[in-house]
Amino acid sequence: MNLDSAKWVVGEDYNAAPTCATCHMSATKNQPLTHNVGLRLKWNNRPVHSVPAHKTDEKWGLASAKVTSEERQKNMSDVCTSCHQQNVVDNFYIQYEGLIQLYEEKFAIPGENLYKLATAVLMTNPDYAKFAQMIDFTWFEIWHHEGRRARHGASMMAPDYTHWHGTYEIAKHFYGKFIPELREIIEEYKHEPKAKEQVEALKKALDDLYKSPNHQWAVGKEDMETQKRRAGAAKAFKERYNQK
Ligand code: HEC
Ligand code: HEC
Repeated sequence: MNLDSAKWVVGEDYNAAPTCATCHMSATKNQPLTHNVGLRLKWNNRPVHSVPAHKTDEKWGLASAKVTSEERQKNMSDVCTSCHQQNVVDNFYIQYEGLIQLYEEKFAIPGENLYKLATAVLMTNPDYAKFAQMIDFTWFEIWHHEGRRARHGASMMAPDYTHWHGTYEIAKHFYGKFIPELREIIEEYKHEPKAKEQVEALKKALDDLYKSPNHQWAVGKEDMETQKRRAGAAKAFKERYNQK
């Protein structure tokens, strides 16, 4: 790692392995050292919905907003290519952004919509208080804990965090807690005249969710083609790794 060296340029003074500083801060052959750790990040993965990093800087009125997310990605790629071939890096970004997109379309968009509709039902109750219902905690943990872990895991090539501490837990709690809690809210309020419209809207959104290709598998309605493709992939996997 050549840590005693006064000069510490990746690919020049060391290439054994990157540290946090290597990727986020230290100099490369083409870039100076920076203390703004945002300048090599294309995405802000902290909100419910991932946003291009410069958009967050814009919102906060930071001068670095003028550095676009595309430039930031190039800055990071430049770090990676100090040690790897370009195609390794390109493939990394395909996988990383594929995960962000899947999380966004499958869970973040419909989840937030259902949560808002459920909140509208709950707000018909005069005793309603913000963040006092189980559903508030459930949805918060899905995006803020598990959803972030999945995205941050993918962003730093950590499959265990992406899957077991990320998408696995999102799915477990989306289907196993969030949806049952939405159904309970519907049950509780369905005879409440004040909540009639709100309950109908929530019910409809739930029906629509299970009609979408992302979720119809969960009610046994996955289309034949997808079922065949998945069975084929499982078979190919077993053959490849010779599992009987
Ligand atoms: C191999 C390079 C590499 C190393 C080593 C690395 N990171 Fe990262 N990190 C990345 C990449 C790539 C991203 C996502 C960039 C993007 O969104 O375009 C990222 C994202 C992050 C984020 C997420 C920021 C956000 O808001 O979404 C944090 C926080 C972070 N890194 C901290 C660390 C820490 C702490 C360490 C050391 C323990 C570390 N990183 C090591 C490459 C690295
Ligand atoms: C200081 C050199 C260095 C930098 C910089 C670096 N890596 Fe690596 N990377 C390595 C080493 C060394 C390995 C481990 C190779 C091995 O075990 O055969 C590795 C492993 C990987 C792997 C896993 C490969 C596998 O076969 O499982 C991926 C993917 C990867 N790096 C992507 C990146 C990306 C993306 C970046 C930039 C965000 C980056 N690396 C930055 C040195 C680096």
